[in-house]
Amino acid sequence: RERKRKEGVNLLELSAAFFRERLKMPEGEGAREYLARRGLSPEVQQVFGIGYAPDEWEALKRHLGERGIGEAVQVEYGLLVHREESGRTYDRFRDRVMFPIRDIKGRTIAFGGRVLGDAKPKYLNSPETPVFHKGRELYGLYEARQADHRLERLVIVEGYMDVVALAQFGIRNAVATLGTSTSEEHLTRLFRLVSEVVFCFDGDRAGRQAATRALETVLPLMIDGRQARFLFLPEGEDPDTLVRREGPEAFEDRITCASPLSEFLFDQAAAGRDLARVEDRERYASQVLAALGKLPEGVLKSLMLSELSRRTGVDQSSFAALMAQSAPPPA
Ligand code: UTP
Ligand code: MN
Ligand code: MN
Ligand code: MN
Ligand code: MN
Repeated sequence: RERKRKEGVNLLELSAAFFRERLKMPEGEGAREYLARRGLSPEVQQVFGIGYAPDEWEALKRHLGERGIGEAVQVEYGLLVHREESGRTYDRFRDRVMFPIRDIKGRTIAFGGRVLGDAKPKYLNSPETPVFHKGRELYGLYEARQADHRLERLVIVEGYMDVVALAQFGIRNAVATLGTSTSEEHLTRLFRLVSEVVFCFDGDRAGRQAATRALETVLPLMIDGRQARFLFLPEGEDPDTLVRREGPEAFEDRITCASPLSEFLFDQAAAGRDLARVEDRERYASQVLAALGKLPEGVLKSLMLSELSRRTGVDQSSFAALMAQSAPPPA
């Protein structure tokens, strides 16, 4: 198992070096122009090890083959695609800007590749492999820890470009999930490193839905001492576009002012309701109670319960009884 991991990582490391090399060569010119157009400095490109997969079918395959790496293992680690019908194999990543995804120790475990134009898919990611599990890994976590080993807060964003752009502007504590929603496993890992996470998704419908899902996922993990906050970006912006437009100080201010979990939860429950009405207040209370039912016992939960009581004018003890009723039976 460990031998396998080493073999895979070696092959991935060779591939990352190959992509970096190709970015510097004449064939990398289009990619270099693209990165310049996106405003990524050579320094930040180097920190994140950004490269280029050439526009060829077998460039990486040949490169790795010459170094004694067989096709089967290249397929296993997601670099080569194997066509069942023809039995042929070809490079998975072609004509894309390549972002190496590193584990916490800095070993390359996968790649994300972006097209230079508008082709689909915009980002192509490595498939699940023996060393890469999308629902667990976070892009930029290694780099954030390199920048500061005593991190207290991490900002969770959607995309590769968001992480890299924020880093370029000195905000070096952003990480991104890899085209999946934030999982419990992601958050458990992050809370082992920091006590505070700030969710910062794109200012669009998908981003707002992601925030709602993130709230659900984080609730059971909110033991006392941990903090989760939610930062909502203006419509049409993502962290990359916004930090470029407003600058890092304004973005830092937004992070500092992000809504605490309690505020987001109460706001969400109030959305679209007229709290002057009894029936709306009843639904408001049920929604908040359902969420509170997922919070671990602790001071945060007690405080939110008394806040709900204050906001609805209902005695706390009746809420406690309701919550006990609706709680799932003990396993
Ligand atoms: P976005 O569509 O918000 O892209 O997807 P982006 O990160 O802002 O990218 P740019 O600025 O256009 O380059 C957010 C994230 O979702 C995943 C990627 O991880 C991406 O960074 N994604 C998106 C994919 O995996 N595949 C896709 O085709 C699109
Ligand atoms: Mn988006
Ligand atoms: Mn998106
Ligand atoms: Mn973007
Ligand atoms: Mn985006």
